Amino acid sequence: MFLGSKLINTLMHDHENIKQYLDVLLDKNSKISDLKESFYSLLPELRSHNRREEKIVYRYMHNKSDLKFSALEGQEEHHVVDILLKDLDTHGAELEDERWRAKTTVLAKLIQNHLEQEEEDTFLNLRKYLTAKSDALLCQKYENKNFSDKDSHNGQNAYV
Ligand SMILES: [Fe+2]
Ligand SMILES: [Fe+2]
Repeated sequence: MFLGSKLINTLMHDHENIKQYLDVLLDKNSKISDLKESFYSLLPELRSHNRREEKIVYRYMHNKSDLKFSALEGQEEHHVVDILLKDLDTHGAELEDERWRAKTTVLAKLIQNHLEQEEEDTFLNLRKYLTAKSDALLCQKYENKNFSDKDSHNGQNAYV
């Protein structure tokens, strides 16, 4: 389906890594220690993926009228995920085990729905706009994990 787009293949590969952690978070039989380990492994990977997706992929989509709303919607979903990630990262130590399980279940379902939406809708629409040149350039930027705000068009808001 994504044959020919290096960018989308790379994004999908990162999604598959993220899903491995979600499987543990969504398994009611997971031990609390495994659940916490998965959460703290997921945290940097998801934040890195989301920030680069926003700065490279969503920013590109924002300039295409057919794709702009998907980029805005995706950004808002990332924002809600960020709130839940920070909540657990900051207050996790004070929580009882069942609260951990409840919070990580809600978080994982939200991320799962977001990934599905991107894979089944957003990336398919994005694919229509990519040329060999833009695909290669965007992928190169996305793969640069050191890509920072000052590298983007507008540091505070990469979409404008
Ligand atoms: Fe996303
Ligand atoms: Fe994504």
